[in-house]
Amino acid sequence: MPYTLPKLLFSYDALEPHIDAKTMEVHYSKHHRTYCDNANKFLAGTGWEEKPIEEVLKNLDKLPEDKRTPVRNHGGGYFNHNLFWTFLGGDSRSPSADVQGALDGAFGSMDAFREKFEAAALGQFGSGWAWLVKNDGKLEILQTANQDSPVSSGKVPLLALDVWEHAYYLKYQNRRADYVKAFWNVVNWNEVARRFTAAA
Ligand SMILES: [Fe+2]
Repeated sequence: MPYTLPKLLFSYDALEPHIDAKTMEVHYSKHHRTYCDNANKFLAGTGWEEKPIEEVLKNLDKLPEDKRTPVRNHGGGYFNHNLFWTFLGGDSRSPSADVQGALDGAFGSMDAFREKFEAAALGQFGSGWAWLVKNDGKLEILQTANQDSPVSSGKVPLLALDVWEHAYYLKYQNRRADYVKAFWNVVNWNEVARRFTAAA
């Protein structure tokens, strides 16, 4: 079965005014769809097209050599956006006690965590992502370029922020910092807690 776009669990305008409806519509129905279609195109005939995309991204070096880069880019784009939508919306606007405790332990405080995450999001030169991941049992913040995914290097994503211009340019133009600050108003902390527990 080819990959399909996951259903969005919120309406395009649900994140207003922090992430506007037009950006959500274009981001989901155009950008994400293109990654999905291209992931299917480049995986067809490789023997990997029936595997979950996360498994494919964990085994990029096993793909035919000419497919590794396009699958890393488009398969990564498909998977990263699948994740990203789950971290938005919902009605939990603060971390669970478990997650809060882990963030305090790893970064010192919620404010320090946010500051470090924002620095990763702002410091990513060009297109990419900021992540909170679990790596060897520890929480870490990292950046990835383009559509590289932390799962390809064995890390478990707990939160993600897309900092490609397509994620914010319609509303924020060059003001990535404003978009990054606004992100905290729409984080679905229930999903962070769910992944944190699953990764324990
Ligand atoms: Fe994106």
